Amino acid sequence: MKPLLQVLRGEALSRPPIWLMRQAGRYLPEYRALRADAKSFLDLALNPDLATEVTLQPVRRFGMDGAILFADILLIPHALGQTVRFVAGEGPQLEPIRDAAGLARLSHAHAAEILAPVMQTVRNVRAALPADVTLIGFAGAPWTVATYMIEGRGKTDYENCRRMMWGEPKLFAGLLDTLVDATASYLIAQADAGAEALKLFDSWAGAVPAALFDAAVIAPTARIVKAVKAKHPNIPIIGLPRAAGAHVARYAAGTGVDAVGIDHMTDIAAAAATLPARVAVQGNLDPMLLMVGGAPMEAEARRIVDAMAGRPHIFNLGHGVLQHTPPDHVARLVDVVKGR
Ligand code: CP3
Repeated sequence: MKPLLQVLRGEALSRPPIWLMRQAGRYLPEYRALRADAKSFLDLALNPDLATEVTLQPVRRFGMDGAILFADILLIPHALGQTVRFVAGEGPQLEPIRDAAGLARLSHAHAAEILAPVMQTVRNVRAALPADVTLIGFAGAPWTVATYMIEGRGKTDYENCRRMMWGEPKLFAGLLDTLVDATASYLIAQADAGAEALKLFDSWAGAVPAALFDAAVIAPTARIVKAVKAKHPNIPIIGLPRAAGAHVARYAAGTGVDAVGIDHMTDIAAAAATLPARVAVQGNLDPMLLMVGGAPMEAEARRIVDAMAGRPHIFNLGHGVLQHTPPDHVARLVDVVKGR
């Protein structure tokens, strides 16, 4: 069995498999070259030939154990009919949804058709991957996708989200329901097309008021996990409740995910000790240390590998690769984790 899948089934290996969040992207010159020719980020993500090539670039260059599908968490709002634009240097911009009329404008009617190119990418990548590399499909978790849909952009204080959660709980729940349905269908389609593991990115889980964490993060994630497993009982699912701190153990138990991604603000061994033994742990080098490189990076990578010895562990960062990371540092990290 592929090493990444062995770990996701609960096996501890003598060396952890490795892949990195945002391993494809702007820090790679071969990505920038391809990106320069594409009309927009959406055109790139929805072009199966280009998206296949971008997915494979880091696998080829570094020998990663996992290939993360090249797509984006904001394809779901786009497929539901919300206007999504990726503005160079500014990040994503969406036409914000703040009321019932905005929610009512979302429609599942064309979602599968709009997302069909992603499924073609999955099929292409599966056919092209080396035999020991695992294809990881993904989506954003409902809360994190909702933050972009409500605020209209990233990098916010979530003021409109928190106002809606507390002030208009029915509207907020309605948006999450829409996202649970759309995301479950999307992940099932990825699994149908050949994705071997799935990941739910809850990048902004740490911004949820504690009293609402179950309703905004755990319950919607659990519904997606249940729906996907009803169709694909054996596909492993990785959850990333980033910066969720004290909630991580309840997240693992309550959602039914097979693995949990740990951010770099959290001690990975301490977090692992609070998780059910069946749950694999993924993480958690600080992406800034990958940018810095050298002896400090190597020492910390070895410390993480040693701290997780004997436990099902997938080596990764605590968050995505930063844009100005030297590719040579990534190559060295892979060597260190593989004991070379
Ligand atoms: O290697 C991979 O991980 C490739 C696939 C991938 C992308 N986005 C490509 C992308 C994945 C898994 C994502 C997930 C994603 N997208 C998340 C969750 C993970 C995390 O980082 O927290 C989030 C929050 C988004 C939303 C998003 N997409 C933002 C905020 C931005 C702009 C800022 C940025 O980081 O670039 C994007 C655009 C985006 N998604 C790019 C890439 C390679 C850069 C776009 C470009 O090339 O112009």
